[in-house]
Amino acid sequence: MKLGDTVPNFTFDTDLRKDQSLHSYIGDNWLMLFSHPADFTPVCTTELAELVKLAPEFSMRHVEILAISIDSSETHRAWAKDINAVVKGCLSVGHHLPFEIIADTDRSICTELGMIDPDEVNSQGICLSARAVMLFGPDRKLKSKILYPATFGRNFVEILRMVDGVQLGSKAPVATPANWTSGKNVIAQPSLSQERVVEELCGGDPDKCKIVPLPSGKRYLRVIEGDAYLKS
Ligand code: BEZ
Repeated sequence: MKLGDTVPNFTFDTDLRKDQSLHSYIGDNWLMLFSHPADFTPVCTTELAELVKLAPEFSMRHVEILAISIDSSETHRAWAKDINAVVKGCLSVGHHLPFEIIADTDRSICTELGMIDPDEVNSQGICLSARAVMLFGPDRKLKSKILYPATFGRNFVEILRMVDGVQLGSKAPVATPANWTSGKNVIAQPSLSQERVVEELCGGDPDKCKIVPLPSGKRYLRVIEGDAYLKS
């Protein structure tokens, strides 16, 4: 999938429910779809345990979480008990995770979305899924993507940062500099005229935009302080 592509309306089963449609699942929310190679594997178990802890953070940002792997719904349910043990029993009765896991047993969804790792093969010689993260907007279009090999565990703090940055860019014509985190200074998008920067991001006050002097003399690094632009 390329940025801007609409996710196909797959029908899928999860550990909890059968025959769901992806577009209905997204509803008016954002969706983070993340793949993992297989159930009962160590890195995946640490990742899902981390996600259990961070699930309220995604929910606050109106992001539905949906995991996917190539094992069955039954296996997913059994694995959830191990994940519950790793997060020290913080799940409610029934060991339900705060998100569902798609059972992509024929690998059709992972294959169509480009989530397969060709270098990671199971004992039957079948390729496992990679560690992909795909963030879709309420319009069901792909907004951002991370793709790691099966051997490299993801950083869920970085994934939350990605959600914050992408959601911010969907609300205001701003971009985020290197290592930005929520609430820090942002940058006016290069395509925006200076008049629009002042009007739309600085509440009409030109002093709220600091143009960094550069040897080229070009005035493209326009820093807007904090999150003032969201209040203007
Ligand atoms: C894991 O989740 O631990 C894992 C899965 C496939 C390859 C390497 C590690």
